[in-house]
Amino acid sequence: MDIALVCNENILAPKAKKLREKWGFTALRSELFQLRLLPEYLALEQLDDNKQGLVFVDFASGAVAHRRKFGGGKGQSIAKAIGMKPGVTLHVIDATAGLGRDAFVLASLGCDVDMVERSPVAAALLEDGLERAYLDAEIGEWMQQRMRLTHASGYEYLQQHQADVVYLDPMFPHKKKSALVKKEMRVFQGVVGADLDADDLLDVALAAAKYRVVVKRPDYAPFLNDKKPSMSIKTKKNRFDVYVKKAIGS
Ligand SMILES: C[S@@+](CC[C@H](N)C(=O)[O-])C[C@H]1O[C@@H](n2cnc3c(N)ncnc32)[C@H](O)[C@@H]1O
Repeated sequence: MDIALVCNENILAPKAKKLREKWGFTALRSELFQLRLLPEYLALEQLDDNKQGLVFVDFASGAVAHRRKFGGGKGQSIAKAIGMKPGVTLHVIDATAGLGRDAFVLASLGCDVDMVERSPVAAALLEDGLERAYLDAEIGEWMQQRMRLTHASGYEYLQQHQADVVYLDPMFPHKKKSALVKKEMRVFQGVVGADLDADDLLDVALAAAKYRVVVKRPDYAPFLNDKKPSMSIKTKKNRFDVYVKKAIGS
C-alpha cells in the first residue's frame, strides 16, 4: 500500500522530503491512510474515518508515561513473563516492536532493548517518538542507553543476533467491533495488516534467545505455531506465553 506523507507547514517541507526518501512514502494524497508531519510529531491518520484520531508515539507523556509512573513496576505481568530479577540486566530483542510500548515498559524497568520493526509506517512513527524522547529531560538519558530501533525483518534479524530474551507480539486479527480494541490499534492494524507469517518467528526466536522467548497473544488466540509454552501468564485481555530454555542467570 502506498502511503503519503503530507505536511502543511513550509518550514517542515525539507524534513518531510527527507522522511519520504528515507521510508519510501509518497507526496500524493493516499486513499485510506496517510502520515501527517506536524510541528509536534509525525502522525498516522485514517482518511475515511476521522473519528479514529491521530496515531503517534509519545513516550514522555500520555498513556505510556502514566503506566511507567503508576503501572505497577516489576510486579507487572510483562516483567514476570520476561523473568526480571533483582541485579540482573536482561538484554531483550523485541522483534515485532510496533509502536514500542511494550519495549518502553521493559526499558523503563531496566532492560536493554533492541527493537526490530519491518513496517516502514510503524518504524517511522517509532523513530519519530524515539527522537523526541531522547531529548526529554526526564527520560532521555536512559532511553538513549536502553532503547534502539532497527528497521528490518525480525525473522532475518534473529538469525544474526542473540539476546537473553526474545519478545514477540505479532499482530493477531482483532475480534470485529470489540470495544476492547482501542481505536488507535484499529488504525494501526489497518495499515500494518495481519502478520500472517508470525508462526515462522518462533523457531528463530528460540534459537536466538539464551534464556526464554515471550509471546504476547490476545486471550482468544491459539499458541504461536501451535507450540505449547512452558507457562502462560494471563492478563485481562492478553496472555504472555513463555518458552523457557534455561533459568535466568544460569
Ligand atoms: C501488535 S504490533 C506490536 C505492538 C508492540 N508490542 C507495542 O507495544 O507497541 C505488531 C508489530 O510487529 C511488526 N512485525 C510483525 N512481524 C514482523 C517481523 N517478522 N519482523 C519485524 N516486524 C514485524 C508489525 O509490523 C507490527 O508493527
